[in-house]
Amino acid sequence: MQPLSAPFPATRFRRPRRTPALRALVAETALAPSDLIWPVFLRDGEDLAEPVASMPGVERLSVDRAVAAARQAAALGIPVVALFPYTDPALKTPDAAEAYNPENLVNRATRAIKAAVPDVAVMLDVALDPYNSDGHDGLVRDGVVLNDETLEVLVKQALSHAEAGADILGPSDMMDGRIGVLRSALETAGHRDTVIMSYAAKYASAFYGPFRDAVGATGALKGDKKTYQMNPANSDEALRLVARDLSDGADMVMVKPGLPYLDICRRVKNAFGAPTFAYQVSGEYAMIEAAALNGWLDGERAMLESLAGFKRAGCDGVLSYFAPRAAKILQGG
Ligand code: PBG
Repeated sequence: MQPLSAPFPATRFRRPRRTPALRALVAETALAPSDLIWPVFLRDGEDLAEPVASMPGVERLSVDRAVAAARQAAALGIPVVALFPYTDPALKTPDAAEAYNPENLVNRATRAIKAAVPDVAVMLDVALDPYNSDGHDGLVRDGVVLNDETLEVLVKQALSHAEAGADILGPSDMMDGRIGVLRSALETAGHRDTVIMSYAAKYASAFYGPFRDAVGATGALKGDKKTYQMNPANSDEALRLVARDLSDGADMVMVKPGLPYLDICRRVKNAFGAPTFAYQVSGEYAMIEAAALNGWLDGERAMLESLAGFKRAGCDGVLSYFAPRAAKILQGG
């Protein structure tokens, strides 16, 4: 249906733009704190907040500080925190066994947050890259990232995270078949209510650079992730992946990165109508922050405009390092 409008001057599109009240009245989408998922980096220690050089304003937090961040999320109306560990290099091994250690950093932080701030949902990534000495999301043999062997480790990791109390699991590994095996392992173990937000359309992107610094995977990573993450040239493939993950038992799907892939968000939402999220990744954050710090653009406005774009593109929410700052502004300061 084409919206009808009379010819000028009967129609003047500027009429409803004249005042803030009129503009608010005709706004088609709105961003709220409840749309935001706040990714938080963790490190070992106590009372520590260590700046991430490539992400100005973002810090790696010790567990006690992460609990404080979760309290802040609750106060700001942010419903979910997503935890990512900086793993001590000494704990990284070719079998990535630390991924399913019940006492690993994310599991300890999850228990602490769920005990202190139960109303904030905790989301944990399912992928091996923070734990693997190869820096890859799966097990590596002879330079090849193994699919089926990796699934067995992902299942152990997912169960340890569900056991720790994670509300949402975010498989970000891009191995084929993971959603199905994770869903059936969760059901069998009695974790019937654990939500899976699949990183369904995840591209092999240059925009993950600062994240890999933040979790200490940059030095470890050998080669690139192009044999398992998507080719940025593709769009139909994203729909096939989302269809597969939804039929394998994902509750929600994600597109990642965000801003360069808003077309994918819109196609996914239109095609499936499922809860759809985007990840405004580390490089997107760094770009806006770097320009703002140079005085080249108004950082606050650029932040809110970029987040609004996700809602306009059909997303139900967005993972963003801007979450606490944006929520504060959206709450009125
Ligand atoms: C790893 C993972 C990555 C991100 C989230 N989970 C990086 C990667 O795939 O290399 C990136 C997030 C960001 O850049 O902010 N499985």
